[in-house]
Amino acid sequence: MATLRHSYIAGVGHYVPSRVVKNAELETMMNTSDAWIQERTGIQERRWFEEGTDTTANMGANAARKALEMAGVDANDVQMIVFATLSPDYFFPGSGVLLQRELGITNNCPALDVRNQCSGFVYALSVADQFVRTGMYDTVLVVGSEIHSSGLDKSPEGRGVSVIFGDGAGAVVVRPSTTEGQGILSTHLHSQGEFAEELIVKEPGSNRDNRVQYILDNQADLYPYMNGQNVFKHAVVRFPQVIKEALDQNGYQPQDVNMLIPHQANLRITQYVQQKMGLTDDKVFSNIQRYGNTTAASVPIALSEAVQEGKIKRGDLVCLAAFGSGFTWASALIKW
Ligand code: UT7
Repeated sequence: MATLRHSYIAGVGHYVPSRVVKNAELETMMNTSDAWIQERTGIQERRWFEEGTDTTANMGANAARKALEMAGVDANDVQMIVFATLSPDYFFPGSGVLLQRELGITNNCPALDVRNQCSGFVYALSVADQFVRTGMYDTVLVVGSEIHSSGLDKSPEGRGVSVIFGDGAGAVVVRPSTTEGQGILSTHLHSQGEFAEELIVKEPGSNRDNRVQYILDNQADLYPYMNGQNVFKHAVVRFPQVIKEALDQNGYQPQDVNMLIPHQANLRITQYVQQKMGLTDDKVFSNIQRYGNTTAASVPIALSEAVQEGKIKRGDLVCLAAFGSGFTWASALIKW
């Protein structure tokens, strides 16, 4: 088989809503404390969207504009959109077509929505990589965008989940690499459906006689449920596993990694993974302190900030890794 070309990330950008919600504000809604949240998760504040200003699609579009600008690509030259979210604007259609409209893309390019929760962005990046590697497309826009805050239980019952999640968006432009050895080296995707209900928003499920009536009668099921301890237990196993899988496939050791960008699930999970991989502080990027867990948006927001802050340079070995609801987990190894 002929060697396929590599794809690379030509541009990256992010957008977060302007409203900052500190832990102290959550103390007024649910029986929680700044001390508990910081100690158990590392989170100090997160962003919540502004109704009438932010939507999942337009936040994604704001991030995408920055990524397109960095890549020097006109929106109408995008040949495919891959949009990862668990909080779409509508039940259907997906947010990809809304983003296409928002960006003024009139070339009728395909828009694909990906539903893999915290792993959504890495899954979406992998899809883009396949299309570019095979030569089908030259320019794929990959977006992760989430609005959690409108769907959280902000009463005391919701504290186990609601303190964690935040809103935001990130995007990358994937193009064929023109530099030998540069680009996405490999991606690795996994899932284990036996744990589907461990982190879930169950309703509105379609498998009801009358799902609309059902949600009116069972409002609590509309909120996310998480078996936090079990999710944590699996996360600290799967993160190192899927990172090692990427390194092994490409003949690298953990010490070769210049920057690990993990999905920002919990600072304690990241610290455990860092220790397990034997990585120094400067090689692991964390911004959960400021944004909480933004699921499909967390990896591209972190990647965008790391690039903006000069922490990733061309030629660096960068590893993206994620784990979340499904369970799903994934990694991507990139020669930047
Ligand atoms: O994004 C991808 C997937 N998500 C994750 O990876 C998240 C994984 N899980 C976690 O990050 C952690 O399990 C949590 C941060 C969600 C919870 O931390 P934990 O250390 O596992 O706490 P816990 O659920 O065992 O709860 C400990 C105590 C309980 O009280 P009792 O039973 O010991 O009296 C909880 O009721 O903390 C209580 N608690 C809270 N207290 C204050 C739970 N949530 C809160 C809260 N504020 N927000």
